[in-house]
Parts: sequence; C-alpha cells; structure tokens
Amino acid sequence: MEGRCYHIHVPKPYTPNDKWSQRAAKEGYRARSVYKLMELNERFGLLKTGMTVVDLGAAPGSWLQFAASEVGPTGALYGFDLTPIEAIADNVKTFVMDITDTYGVGETLRKEGVRDADLVLSDIAPNTSGVKDLDQWRSVELATASLAIAKDMLKPNGKCVVKIFRGADFDEFFGGLKLDWQEPKIVEVEVTRDRSREVYVVVRKSMV
Ligand SMILES: C[S@@+](CC[C@H](N)C(=O)[O-])C[C@H]1O[C@@H](n2cnc3c(N)ncnc32)[C@H](O)[C@@H]1O
Repeated sequence: MEGRCYHIHVPKPYTPNDKWSQRAAKEGYRARSVYKLMELNERFGLLKTGMTVVDLGAAPGSWLQFAASEVGPTGALYGFDLTPIEAIADNVKTFVMDITDTYGVGETLRKEGVRDADLVLSDIAPNTSGVKDLDQWRSVELATASLAIAKDMLKPNGKCVVKIFRGADFDEFFGGLKLDWQEPKIVEVEVTRDRSREVYVVVRKSMV
C-alpha cells in the first residue's frame, strides 16, 4: 500500500428500511442480502438438492436460510463468520472464525468430514473505513482468502461465488482468476446496483 494516494469515499446513504429490507422482514429472512443470492442462484443455477455448501462471512444467516431451503434436508451447510449465527436448521453448522486464519476453515471442514464441497459462497465485506483504496484492498484480500478456501475444498466442477469491491486492484485480481478458474464472470445484482461498488465474481473449478 506504500505510496498510494487515498481517496475518501463517501457512500450514498444506506437506507435500512428500503423495499428489500422490508421484504426480507416480511418473508422471515435475516438480511436483505438474501435477494442477492436468490438472483445469483436464478442466473447461475447454483443450489441443488443434497448439495454440500460452505458460506464464508455468513452472519446473520440469510444466505444460509435460503440455501438450506434449496438443498433440503439431504444437503449440508457450513457457515463461518467473526460473529455468532443463531441456529437455522439441523443440517446447518456454523463456526465463529476469521476466515483469513491459515488453515482454520479447511481444518474445521475436514474435521467435520467435508472434503468435496459442491459450492463455496463468500458474501464477506470488510468493515469499511471510508478510505476507498484501503477498503478495496481489504476486500481483495478477503476475496483472495475465500478463493483459496474454495480451491482447497471444492470438488472438480464445483462453483464459487465471491463478493468484491471494484477499484484500483480489481483488474489485476480478476486477470489472476483466469489462471486458476474456469469461466470467471463479473456479476452485478439488482439489490446493490444503484449504490455500491460491490460485484460478485462467479467461477468454476476445473475438472482435473
Ligand atoms: C454482508 S455480511 C454477510 C451477510 C450474509 N450473506 C447474510 O445473508 O446474512 C458480511 C459478513 O462478513 C463477515 N466478515 C468480515 N470479515 C470476516 C473475516 N475475516 N472472517 C469471517 N467473517 C468475516 C462480517 O462479520 C459480516 O457478518
């Protein structure tokens, strides 16, 4: 980060009582972000009955709620966050953990008997400081850590969805994905489109 010029980023005001939050409350979801996963799922066919799903940065748990309903009781879900997550269903296990801790998530999953996940989700967001380049750099760091976990835990052909902020380091980050992953795509979802630099990257692990 040495020698960088920092721009103060003043985000548009967040309105927690917007139509998505109201809808989430009405439909019993813990966060409006659930509609981001619903859209991603509709567009990329991510969730299927019986899948094993790992969710990084999972609190308060709306993605886990929706994913649990899509994979059904034969599926298994593992959520990780710095913050505890209230119980969701019998087949959802959650862990309080910093996902950047070396081997933390992988070791935990292996202890749980998980070796081949079908899908890794990461809706992780750094605590924003208002310093645009710093927040974006931290977002790249978290997205990179999420992809390392996905590379380790996914079965061949398994998919991974990672949130990231667009900014100075984005092109380099995205260019690097092409070396390790099949069909990397940048996706904007309707819920965030008008007020954020956030996008999702969807990738698929190769068959070998
Ligand atoms: C936007 S929220 C996720 C919302 C979630 N998808 C849902 O639908 O309920 C981002 C989460 O990332 C978590 N987070 C940020 N840094 C993290 C880290 N290093 N390790 C684990 N979780 C982290 C935060 O605690 C926060 O709960």
